[in-house]
Amino acid sequence: MSNKNIDWDNLGFNAHETKSMFRANYTLESNWQVEGLIPYGDVSLSPASTVLNYGQGIFEGTKAYQTSRERVVCFRLEDNANRFLSSSDRMCIPPLPKGFFEKAVQDVVKDNLEFLPSKEQGSLYIRPLAFGEGPMLGVKASDNFTFLIYVTPVGSYFKSGLKSLNTIITDKYHRTATKSVGFAKAIGNYAGTLLPFKEITDQGYDEIIFLNSSDENIIDEARSANIFVLKDNILKTPSLQGSILPGITRDSVIKVASHFFNLEVHEGDVTIEELMNGDEVFFTGTAAVIVPAGSINYKNKTMEFDAKYNDSMTKQIREKIIDIQHENIEDPFGWVIPLR
Ligand code: COI
Repeated sequence: MSNKNIDWDNLGFNAHETKSMFRANYTLESNWQVEGLIPYGDVSLSPASTVLNYGQGIFEGTKAYQTSRERVVCFRLEDNANRFLSSSDRMCIPPLPKGFFEKAVQDVVKDNLEFLPSKEQGSLYIRPLAFGEGPMLGVKASDNFTFLIYVTPVGSYFKSGLKSLNTIITDKYHRTATKSVGFAKAIGNYAGTLLPFKEITDQGYDEIIFLNSSDENIIDEARSANIFVLKDNILKTPSLQGSILPGITRDSVIKVASHFFNLEVHEGDVTIEELMNGDEVFFTGTAAVIVPAGSINYKNKTMEFDAKYNDSMTKQIREKIIDIQHENIEDPFGWVIPLR
């Protein structure tokens, strides 16, 4: 596959066919065995595989960047590896050996460098997956699994690019339950948001905010992004109480906000009222990076945020994180890892 047909200046968030993907296979007898880099292409599965029948699957999302120092870097890869382990554990997928995830990501990035956008155009999105492959009619964990990584060049996640989002808090659906699988990157968590999202986009909104299933006065997160609210000098985000995905951008924002901007950061309950009355509200995720909310609707009341993006703390935090990822500034946290 060549990179010739890609519209590099308008990448958006789409899956492009690239050169290769990485595959490893698990059986009870042999544990995880590397198959290595294979041509990008379709995967064949038993119709009775546990991923197709019961959703026994997880994924990760991370990115590689071209930097100002003329090299290619990954960002906080070890954190993705650790989250993958925690998701595997929750979904009864055997753990990958230590270092396996990071090496496989680097191998597939190195083999697909022709698909890495310039830093002005975007980044290379990396999508590791693991799923139960073996046939199992009863609701049981599979005996066979696949670990697969593919990559694709991406630009902006939201269609609007950086335009602030018109959002709505839903009390019709929950994303997940507090003691369920919300903290894991389980594939079904995302399928469950498709209908709520379709309904709100049909009404003209860009993003949906879910409430906590045990306490509907507090917010959880959006479809695929964590939420922050800034009021005066205090930045708040829901704590990792079970239904919240431990976002790596979420954690980066927490550290950057206090290190560079002296903000007080609180992880705890965030009420609907606090969200609606914030000075700034923004969404974070690997795919989304950081995107501001322009308005929030709840029960027919709409709050518009007056802060101009160009003067906002949201912009300053976003740009600081991007500056670290692109090596425009020194990385005080040791997050940026050059390809080895
Ligand atoms: C990511 O930010 O990488 C995610 O996992 C979101 C994805 C569902 C688009």
